[in-house]
Amino acid sequence: MRLQPDFIHEFVRGKSERTLLLLHGTGGNERDLIPLGKELDPNASLLSPRGEVLENGMPRFFRRLAEGVFDLEDLKKRTHELADFVVSAAEHYKIDTKHIIAVGYSNGANIAASMLLLRPEILTAAVLFRAMVPLVPKTAPSLNSKRIWIGAGSLDPIVPASNTKELAEMLRSAGAEVTIRFFQSGHQLTAEDVDLAREWLTESVD
Ligand code: MLT
Repeated sequence: MRLQPDFIHEFVRGKSERTLLLLHGTGGNERDLIPLGKELDPNASLLSPRGEVLENGMPRFFRRLAEGVFDLEDLKKRTHELADFVVSAAEHYKIDTKHIIAVGYSNGANIAASMLLLRPEILTAAVLFRAMVPLVPKTAPSLNSKRIWIGAGSLDPIVPASNTKELAEMLRSAGAEVTIRFFQSGHQLTAEDVDLAREWLTESVD
């Protein structure tokens, strides 16, 4: 069966009621974050779509005009498409919609943040690695009871620390419980990011 809207994706059925929605970075694909998902929670189901935009042949989840400068109309449209895909995938794979947690890296973290701001009903929690403010919504969403973990690199040349802090504040002022951690690293993910995110997922998210 084809899901509508249709994203190329991988689905790995887990043993618990939790599903991790895995969102890769620029140039990634639906297979990239499967090992990370298993490391973060070996019992969760994994739903991993491939971004539908191509930038010089590299898949992404939305268009950008330059590094860190986003095509906001495209971002909004694709955020809704991704949210609708999650709804249809949840129906198709019988996923418990009360336990969907986004795990995004870089471009994937940015569309996950956009989904929290525009379609907050889709996610109960999110792990955002190297995220920045994707957009400023016209109306602030209600993010009460959402839990969000942000892993940032203090030496990240792509995402300024001030921008990640701004994102954390935006999510907090909408009611989310946000944990932000800075690592002595650049844009790439580190073993410490993964360890702390796993601990947080185990201890702080139902
Ligand atoms: C983005 O375009 O989402 C950010 O610049 C991160 C990246 O993908 O390089």
